Formats: sequence, C-alpha cells, structure tokens
Amino acid sequence: MQIQSLDSVIYVGDEINALITKTTDSLDFSKVFLITDTNTHKLCLPLIADNSMFNNTSEIIVKPGEENKTIQTTEQIWKFLSNNGADRNSLVLILGGGVLCDMGGFAAATFKRGIKFITIPTTLLSQVDASIGGKLGVDLNGLKNEIGMFKTPHSIIISPLFLKTLDKEQILSGFAEMIKHAIVYGGEHLMKIKNFDIKNYDFSKLSGLITKSILIKNDIVHKDPKEKNLRKSLNFGHTFGHAFESFLLRKKEPIMHGVAVAHGMIAELALSKYALNLPKRILQEFSEYIANIYDEINLSNADFDEIYELMLHDKKNDAQNIKFALLRGAGLVEINVQASKEHIKLAYNEYLTWMNRNGEELIR
Ligand SMILES: NC(=O)c1ccc[n+]([C@@H]2O[C@H](COP(=O)([O-])OP(=O)(O)OC[C@H]3O[C@@H](n4cnc5c(N)ncnc54)[C@H](O)[C@@H]3O)[C@@H](O)[C@H]2O)c1
Repeated sequence: MQIQSLDSVIYVGDEINALITKTTDSLDFSKVFLITDTNTHKLCLPLIADNSMFNNTSEIIVKPGEENKTIQTTEQIWKFLSNNGADRNSLVLILGGGVLCDMGGFAAATFKRGIKFITIPTTLLSQVDASIGGKLGVDLNGLKNEIGMFKTPHSIIISPLFLKTLDKEQILSGFAEMIKHAIVYGGEHLMKIKNFDIKNYDFSKLSGLITKSILIKNDIVHKDPKEKNLRKSLNFGHTFGHAFESFLLRKKEPIMHGVAVAHGMIAELALSKYALNLPKRILQEFSEYIANIYDEINLSNADFDEIYELMLHDKKNDAQNIKFALLRGAGLVEINVQASKEHIKLAYNEYLTWMNRNGEELIR
C-alpha cells in the first residue's frame, strides 16, 4: 500500500526489502548513512541487512530510550555524518522507534541545512504515529520535544514484520496511540478497537487496525500540517501524558510514551467532564476500558504540584494558560480548552482513583 503523506510517501507492507529497493532505486544520492540504536541494530537490521542498499553504508549505533533523546546524542549523529564525509546529497536511513525517528530526523533535517532522510519505524507506536506528520526533535531539561521542527522525510517504510520482537509493554504503548486515534475519529473504527483483545492479540488482525490508524493520523496532518487547529486534537491525553512521562523520567523511573498517554487520556476524560460536560456514561465507558488494559504507574496525590508545574511548560499553552484537547463525546474533540487549576487537580485525583481500581466509587 502506498499513501501520500504531505511531501512524503508512506509504503506499508510485509515485503520490507522490496519496499526499500522500490523507494531507493529512483533516488539520486552520494552515500548512505544508517542510524540505529543498540536494540534495532541487533533485532531489526538483520531483516534488511542483505539489501544491496547496505553494501556501502556507514552506521551509527546510539543508546536507546527517551533518556538519550537529547541534543548530546544529536551532536554524536552530526559528528558521525561530518566525520564520515556526508554531503548535501547523502541519504540518511533511520531504523528505529519514535525516539530515533524524532531525533535522527532532526539530525538529518539540520545537517548542512537539511539532507534527505527515510524513516523505517520499528515500533508499533512509531508506525502508527511518530513517523507520520513531520514532527522532529529532542528533549531538553527534562521537557519533552522542547527543541524541534517540522520536516517530512523523503519516505516512510512501514512493515509489521518488525513488530514481532517487541515485548508486551511496547505493544501496549503503541496501542495507546491507536486508542487515541479511534477516540478522536469515533464511529465504527472505535468499536473495532474496543473489541480487539490487545492482551492476546492476533498479528494478522492487528495489521488492518494499524493501517486504519495510519490513515487517520495522515488525514489529520494532511488537513493541518503545522498544528494550527485540527491536528491539536491528536494531543488528547498528551498534556497530562507528557507531564507524567517527564515526571517519571526525572525520577529515573521512565515509562513508555504511549503508556503515559494512556494514563493521560484517563485524566483528560475526567477533565472533559469538568470543562466540557462530557457525559458520565462516556467518561465511565472509556476510563474503564483504558484502566483495564494499563497497569498502575507510580504517581500519588503528593505529586500533583510537580505535575502541574510540568504542564505549564506544554507547547500548546499561551502565557500562563494550560490548553487541552478535550472530549465532548466520541469523535468530538475540542481544542484550546482552558481549565482551572482546581478542575485539573480534581481530574488528577479522579484519575488516581480509577487507577487504584476504585473506579466503581466514581461510577456510583
Ligand atoms: N513525532 C511525532 O509526531 C511523535 C508522535 C508520538 C510519539 N513521538 C515520540 O516517540 C517516542 C516514543 O517512541 P517509541 O515508543 O517507539 O519508543 P522508542 O523509540 O524508545 O522505542 C522503544 C524501545 O523499543 C526498542 N525497539 C525499537 N524497535 C524494536 C523492535 N522492532 N523490537 C524490539 N525492540 C525495539 C528501542 O530500542 C527502545 O528501547 C517518544 O519520544 C515520543 O515523544 C513522536
């Protein structure tokens, strides 16, 4: 399958080597530079290493994980490119999850004012979300994606074959963004996602849902590439989610991005009740659904002030107003919603109650 995505083409299929050849055959480039992390070097590169593309390729293997999504790692990539003679006609291939897609893309898009790059996303989260839409960047001072830019890759090559080596938590992390796409989109797709048993998933059935998720994300970024309006709806769950992720990263107890988003969605469902009168029935249905999939994370009432402080840094804010993308109903997201500190705190407490498995108290 081939999908036009802003200035890029997304290729989706099992025939990963054929897709790489098809994408690169028509491209004019001087030399190829490959960016992997220690995990994708070991687990993903062997699936494509026989491709003639890699006959004369220089590779940099960086440390994996969000804690390495930094300007320091970016500098290592820039130096690797520079020391190995990359020129403006070089091609960068990025083989990795969302961290590498964001950071490797950023390194390529800024090297010599920008060279061509192709992303080959290898996690569920990066296939359905991070690789699409051209947002690139790194974290700074413990704040998510504080430095970055919009720039689309030449192409994005997506193959479900890579997903076989992911562990359960990585699959659940990616599935959270698929839940988000489904809630934002609503309709029949939402029912399909809710009826899918992600804890005992069947790969062949997951593929169809992955493609639909890619199409939803792509449709939204196509209508609003620079996140002026509609694309902000994809931030549902992310204001709380990013704060949870940064807070736990600071405490050296990192959780996966999608897991943070899943928890953020529960908190923002509660906030949607206070700020937009989201019907209690929908709040209950979705919160229960998400809380049943994801385990508790290490947060308590005492953490609220620090989490609130982190939310004040969110990129969607203006002046001192925290702006959320919240829900009026399934498929009905409202953007730029301001909420009072009091409501944010109430929502946080309600979220904790859901995760402590005391949701029944809230339902009554
Ligand atoms: N740019 C965007 O629009 C966008 C959207 C959503 C998320 N993101 C970003 O994506 C990042 C999260 O991405 P992620 O969840 O993919 O995390 P990740 O890139 O850290 O990957 C998770 C772990 O899986 C390993 N891994 C990768 N592929 C593997 C495979 N096939 N088998 C086994 N292990 C594998 C990685 O080495 C890493 O240890 C966050 O930094 C987030 O901010 C960006």
